[in-house]
Amino acid sequence: MDLASKVRLIKDFPKPGINFRDITTLLQDAGAFRQAVDELVELCKGLAVDVIACPEARGFVLGAPLAYAMGKGVVLLRKPGKLPGKTVCHSYELEYGSDALEVHEGAIQPGQKVLLVDDVLATGGTVAAAVELVKKSGGEVAGVAFLIELLGLDGREKLSGYPVVTLLQLEA
Ligand code: PRP
Ligand code: MG
Repeated sequence: MDLASKVRLIKDFPKPGINFRDITTLLQDAGAFRQAVDELVELCKGLAVDVIACPEARGFVLGAPLAYAMGKGVVLLRKPGKLPGKTVCHSYELEYGSDALEVHEGAIQPGQKVLLVDDVLATGGTVAAAVELVKKSGGEVAGVAFLIELLGLDGREKLSGYPVVTLLQLEA
């Protein structure tokens, strides 16, 4: 199945000039969702991974099934104020606006090899914050996996030195 054809393009969302890649149309298709997760699992097989971490919200949708399929636990990187325990925080710039991510202290153990998973790599701001949270927690980034890489936004430049897995490369 051509997974790219399952991703809907919505122009000028959330503001003029942004081409929004809507993955809900892929996720709601049983065959496409399964294929996407299976292909990501296959591409991540060579990585030595102890745990998977994924940013809220769309990262959860891919990170959780990937962790399940790989037999790993999943660590949630959440937007501020959502986690009940003590947290480590990092702020970042988005393709549109700014935000921050938090992780529970101790959720990532020192020395653990962490596979980061998100739906889209755009400017790389989100994943760079996720990388910082892993580092602040004492973990190591084992690799980074995305369903979609948006080309032309140089997100990959923020990930030099780490194995990067992407299923689909689409124009931003
Ligand atoms: C989107 C997307 C990625 C990020 C990619 O998340 O899900 O996480 O932007 O952009 P970047 O590479 O420029 O950081 P968003 O913060 O819009 O929110 P959501 O996942 O909660 O929908
Ligand atoms: Mg996101």
